[in-house]
Amino acid sequence: MPRNATNEWHRRRDVRAVIWAIVPAAGRGARFGGDVPKQYLQIAGEPLIAHALDALLAEPRVEGAVVALAADDARWPGWTSRAGKPLRRCDGGGERADSVLAALHALPAAVGDDDLVLVHDAARPNLRVDDVSRLIDAALGHADGAILAAPVRDTLKRAGRDGAIAATEPREALWRALTPQAFRRGPLTRALQAARDAGAVVTDEAMAMERAGARPRLVEGREDNLKVTTPADLALAEYLLARR
Ligand code: C5P
Repeated sequence: MPRNATNEWHRRRDVRAVIWAIVPAAGRGARFGGDVPKQYLQIAGEPLIAHALDALLAEPRVEGAVVALAADDARWPGWTSRAGKPLRRCDGGGERADSVLAALHALPAAVGDDDLVLVHDAARPNLRVDDVSRLIDAALGHADGAILAAPVRDTLKRAGRDGAIAATEPREALWRALTPQAFRRGPLTRALQAARDAGAVVTDEAMAMERAGARPRLVEGREDNLKVTTPADLALAEYLLARR
């Protein structure tokens, strides 16, 4: 970052930060099977998306959230607030990145270019507020933003075409990207737009930022912040939430 930009950024940090959340929830959950999109599967009497939203909004610095929904979503309960904080909705897009981009455009004008946005999967119900707080602290102190992540613990095998092991990959320095991921509104919007214009498929926000030359921080998060993808994940998430 040029020196002037750094100075400007530090000066702006004296101003109270505005922080909003984005929850992309326009996926159809094809991998899960069944006809209920996974964000609407119930655990502990609430859909996954309610748990995800409540976890984000429990952080006192998060002021509100935008949810990106499929245009024909008939299950959305129509919430306009949760936990006393405003909730907006917008139509999502064909890919997760399109949904996030649509939500970035639907943020209130009070969220400036340099304000933080936390993007969190609707299908991650077991997020803890202390992880959100540590992520925000890291992202506020780092111009390129930050993501929750967990070090890879298993030995990694690369499969050959025949299904046999072709190689063992070194796992040192490898992390699994989790969510939320926290970036400044302007740079994230431009990075996602640039990826879309280039026809590049980005599977998380950090990947779009990396394409744009940014080096987001890794913040070690709890391993049990799992994304519900299979019926076994749903059972595990239910167990974890019941234990809290
Ligand atoms: O399918 P996957 O588990 O990667 O989805 C992650 C999150 O992105 C989910 O919350 C899903 O609803 C959302 N998504 C979206 N728009 C899409 C595809 C996925 O908002 N087109």
